[in-house]
Amino acid sequence: MSMSRSPDPPSWPTAVRATTRLRRLVTRPEITFLMEAHDGLSARIVQEAGFEGIWASGLTMSASFGVRDNNELSWSQVTDHVAFMTEASAIPVLVDGDTGYGNFNNMRRLVRKLEQVGAGGVTIEDKLFPKTNSFLRAERQPLADMEAFVGKIKAGKDSQGDPDFVVVARVEALIAGWGLAEAMRRAEAYQLAGADAILIHSRQSSAAEIFAFLDAWAGRAPVVLVPTKYWRTPTEEFRARGVSVVIWAN
Ligand code: SPV
Ligand code: MG
Repeated sequence: MSMSRSPDPPSWPTAVRATTRLRRLVTRPEITFLMEAHDGLSARIVQEAGFEGIWASGLTMSASFGVRDNNELSWSQVTDHVAFMTEASAIPVLVDGDTGYGNFNNMRRLVRKLEQVGAGGVTIEDKLFPKTNSFLRAERQPLADMEAFVGKIKAGKDSQGDPDFVVVARVEALIAGWGLAEAMRRAEAYQLAGADAILIHSRQSSAAEIFAFLDAWAGRAPVVLVPTKYWRTPTEEFRARGVSVVIWAN
């Protein structure tokens, strides 16, 4: 692998903050792709490969330590790890914050710490701590109480010091088999609570339910997708439906 195309980290331009760069990627009309990374080296490789941003994946960070994607890594271990990723790369990092590691107070501390280590934003999902990976026994996974999750989003938005820090709300209603109406109800509530974008997740190998959601959602806030299971879908299909961010997670 050649590391010669990027300057050393200290000389990377810092004029535009990672938060601002991530916000621009999320809000601009064109689609962008984030690639997973799980340490400093892989973050640098994602940048060298030409991606505009990094997904700090909970699954692959856990796997790189040989533990389950089940919050067996503590939140401070994750944020320490993210610090190496932001230091090793010049593109913005969106951090997989799982459920926010607890209640609204944990979320407040998570957001402040992620800002300190230079992350561009965080995604939190509406499940219970400790979370389970979305593709394991999905139908039996309890969803968070919607109002409690709304409170967590508000707490995160209230505690960010940088106005451009991005908070993405991840809706797990389709994953848990609760259907489109519930997914819409939650996405609307999370947007009203201040989420900057909605991540709608699916475990189907076709994108049909995602497309149904996108049609119903009709672009009222930026949408983030993780096509881990429906990876065969051509990019053009996402582009045509106004998807903002596609994450290649694992
Ligand atoms: C991760 O990368 O940790 C994710 C995405 O949350 S997925 O595993 O596809 O649900
Ligand atoms: Mg995850």
